[in-house]
Order: sequence, then structure tokens, then C-alpha cells
Amino acid sequence: MKNIILKTKDLCKSFAHNGGQLHIISNVDLELYEGDFTVIMGASGSGKSTLLYALSGMDSATSGSVIYNGTDITGLKENKLARLRHTDFGFVFQQMHLVSNLTIFENIAVTGYLNKSVSAKETDKRVDELLEKMSISHIKTHLPSQVSGGEQQRCAIARAVVNKPKLIFADEPTGALNRKNTRDVLDLLTELNKQGQSILMVTHDVRAAARADRILYLSDGKILGDLDLPPYSPEDIKSRETQINAWLTSLEW
Ligand SMILES: Nc1ncnc2c1ncn2[C@@H]1O[C@H](COP(=O)(O)OP(=O)(O)OP(=O)(O)O)[C@@H](O)[C@H]1O
Ligand SMILES: [Mg+2]
Repeated sequence: MKNIILKTKDLCKSFAHNGGQLHIISNVDLELYEGDFTVIMGASGSGKSTLLYALSGMDSATSGSVIYNGTDITGLKENKLARLRHTDFGFVFQQMHLVSNLTIFENIAVTGYLNKSVSAKETDKRVDELLEKMSISHIKTHLPSQVSGGEQQRCAIARAVVNKPKLIFADEPTGALNRKNTRDVLDLLTELNKQGQSILMVTHDVRAAARADRILYLSDGKILGDLDLPPYSPEDIKSRETQINAWLTSLEW
């Protein structure tokens, strides 16, 4: 029996717009399991990023609750929520939010330096390992403005995982990457997942989704599909992609 790491009860998110309300996430009841690599797919505008923001406490829910490891985070005070996000969560956003006057190395390391349970020396070592894995060691002294979009994205991914968060939220982490860099990022996420970190990743890419244990399909702010996959192994990648494509077709993706 897997433990539930994150669940929602009747989660709704609306935005006020032009004097009315836009209901973007509607009555979502969801359970995510500890140790799972879960993927969210769905058309552009279906509410994937909005859902990720609400689940991670980066944005408030309009109604309903988000429960992380037994704690209702929708009821937490901002400082407690910030601490939880810092100790337990890692984030890769569609917008990368790198600090413009810090180098690539520093952008990644800062998150680690704030973590009091790890020494600065250990953080530096881990940052160097991640730079290597993401093939961006050669630009570690550059500023974000001096590197490509794909390099910035890989920096943001390294930053998200430097503290070994229990749960990683990733919004299209391979969106701006070529094949090799996509594979590097997915290999890193798969490796972290094998080490026990839970992952929730939004993607449009079937190849990326094929890494998952489970795929949720979002349509107009509702979960319309839930597919379980056997544990990932690289030899099965083609058959996994075929299975996912057939499932997406049945959902009229
Ligand atoms: N602050 C806001 N105010 C009004 N509408 C918003 C706001 N944020 C998001 N929306 C709307 O909510 C809908 C869902 O947006 P969201 O970014 O969650 O989509 P998505 O599924 O992540 O799409 P994509 O695949 O293109 O990233 C969109 O129609 C968007 O215009
Ligand atoms: Mg999005």
C-alpha cells in the first residue's frame, strides 16, 4: 500500500476577470502517492499550471483543500507555508525566475545555502554534480542573461532539486530543450525518483510522460483520465509511448 503524499478535496480555483469569475479548476479530488512519478497532461489552457500552483501552495485555492502529508496547507499561515515549501518542495516553473545578478552556480547554490542542515561545502559539491549532469558546468560563472534559454531551464531544474526535496513540482521542464538535454533532464528526474523523491510533472511530450508511474489527464479544469503504468524501464519506452498515445486518443487529446 502506497502512502498518500498530497491530496485535494473539492479543490476549486477561479480568477476574477472583466467583472465575472473564470472557473479554471473545478471540484478536483485527487490523491498523489509517495514515491510516484506522476504526470499531468492536457490541452493548452486546460488549467495544468493553475493546478500545480494551487497544489504547491504557490497560489491560494478559491475553495476546497490541499493536504500535504496530513497537513491542510490551505489553512497554513504564510510563514509556515513558506517554510514547508522550502524544506519539502522543489519547483520548476514555466517562467524560470533566475536571479539576474547571480551566476548560474550561485543561482543553484543559494537554495542549498539556506538549508541549515547541509554545510556550504556539501552544497557546493552537489551543485557541481548537478551542473555536470545538466551539461552546464562550462557556464557556471555566467549570468542568466549570458546563457541560452535551454541552459537557463537546466539551471532552474538543478536549483529545484539541490535540496533533495520530498516532492518536486515541474511545469514543462523540458519545454525549451533539444533531444539530448531533454533526455538528461528526464534521466535526472528518474534517478531522483528512484531515490525516493516524489515528482509531479506537467508535460505535453509523450516521451517525457513515458517516464511516469501514473498520468492524469486534465480537461477544462477537471481530471478526466487516470492511467497507471508499470515501473519505468528504458527498454519499454516504445511500448509505453504507444500505450500513452492510444490512451490520449481515447480521451480525444
Ligand atoms: N490570473 C489569471 N486571470 C485570469 N485568467 C487566468 C489567470 N491565470 C490563468 N488564467 C486562465 O486559466 C486558464 C488555464 O491557464 P493555465 O496556465 O493553467 O493553462 P495550462 O494548462 O497550464 O496551459 P499551457 O499548456 O499553455 O501552459 C487559461 O485560459 C488562462 O487564461
Ligand atoms: Mg501551463
